[in-house]
Amino acid sequence: MEQYAINGGNPLVGEVEIGGAKNAALPILAASLMTDETVLIENMPDVRDTAILLDAMQSIGAHVERLDRHSVKINGSHIHDVVVDGSLAKKIRGSYYFLGVLLGKYKRAAVVLPGGCDIGCRSIDQHIKGLRALGASVKIAHGMVTAEAQRLVGSHIYLDVASVGATANIMMAAVLAEGRTIIENAAKEPHVVDLANFLNSMGANIKGAGTDVIRIRGVQKLHRTEYVIIPDQIEAGTFMFAAAATRGDITVKNVIPKHLESISAKLVEIGCEVREFDDSVRVISKGPLRHTHVKTLPYPGFPTDMQPQIVVTLGLSEGTSIVTETIFENRFRYVEELVRMGANIKVEGMTAIIDGVSCYTGAGISAPDLRAGAALVIAALSAEGMSTVDDIRYIERGYEDFHLKLQKLGAQIEKIEGEREQQKFRLKTG
Ligand code: EPZ
Repeated sequence: MEQYAINGGNPLVGEVEIGGAKNAALPILAASLMTDETVLIENMPDVRDTAILLDAMQSIGAHVERLDRHSVKINGSHIHDVVVDGSLAKKIRGSYYFLGVLLGKYKRAAVVLPGGCDIGCRSIDQHIKGLRALGASVKIAHGMVTAEAQRLVGSHIYLDVASVGATANIMMAAVLAEGRTIIENAAKEPHVVDLANFLNSMGANIKGAGTDVIRIRGVQKLHRTEYVIIPDQIEAGTFMFAAAATRGDITVKNVIPKHLESISAKLVEIGCEVREFDDSVRVISKGPLRHTHVKTLPYPGFPTDMQPQIVVTLGLSEGTSIVTETIFENRFRYVEELVRMGANIKVEGMTAIIDGVSCYTGAGISAPDLRAGAALVIAALSAEGMSTVDDIRYIERGYEDFHLKLQKLGAQIEKIEGEREQQKFRLKTG
């Protein structure tokens, strides 16, 4: 099984190009099926999740033409099935976007219950509530979610939770519905706004994305478009915290600084210098790191997808920090791995109490999920000695060329397989 071998202790220094946002790419790729004309999508991240989604799209008849790693042409005029089943779709959470897309366009959809990282129960009751409000009958049976409607008619929907997935799914089902839909308590994440902008570029009529209230007027049909996906806020934040934890100096390039405000604010709070430019942000971590308190919140609050990365960094900060996770109920599983590296962290319910230590020590660790896996790599890069990280397939779901980008920043990290390659790495890095 492939793993990362890491020899820690080097400050990471240099520039890194940030790719397209995975969590914008997934709904946008799915939504490209809502027209029978050809859609060109650029700045798509070349990661496992987008590859799996494109395969699932092809399995129901979509024409997918990869122009290069980050550009793809899609045509949904030959869709021959509205049932998205099988082991592929089950692997990723983004499969649930086929519900809103296929119901919106064909008034029928059946999707295998979504997989994704095990960070909580991840119900889809808000998705179902919204689709039913538009007139669909929705049922869950045999591990599938099935939705169908004679007509889809606009409705006033109040989400109990500002759910990213539910907001996106309801938006996609509503763009071709009759009349007006209002989504209250809508998610405001940058990738929700990106999806709305993409749909509007296809002729949809969506207003208010990025606020609590999104208003959609149904249209007859959608048309071709060419679209560039926004930069990945979480990939950028991950490298920004890698600078902090390794006492380095990293400039993340091709970003939208506004999307990183809550991340930059926390880095300043713990003692880093953050310099913002038009499309890049530089993080310099020189002096001692300070403790702080963090609560994860929907955008524009501190993102839950950055929680493991800030916990790893606060584990190296002076004093006691408190991190409260308010979005997912099982997102601290990685802490036990971190404790094996010398961290002094106690988890009580949805709160981590962190007593900073001077440094971590390398160990054999495993990635329990996508973002925790990336955070554990950051811990290993800052640690004394060698670490190995297993289950890196989780990390590769959402980070393109992660170890290669880190190598360019001075990290001693390699993707290896088996004992022999591990020994070679040990000898090489001494
Ligand atoms: C999206 O997940 C992202 N995934 C997650 O990123 C991200 O952590 C999350 O949004 C929050 O920002 C993708 O976009 C593919 P939610 P999603 O619906 O849509 C509860 C990553 O690392 N909820 O906003 O599943 C849910 O249980 C991944 O890239 C309901 O109760 O998140 C959670 O507690 C991890 N009922 C909260 O809402 C519902 O119907 C937020 O979930 C839906 C959600």
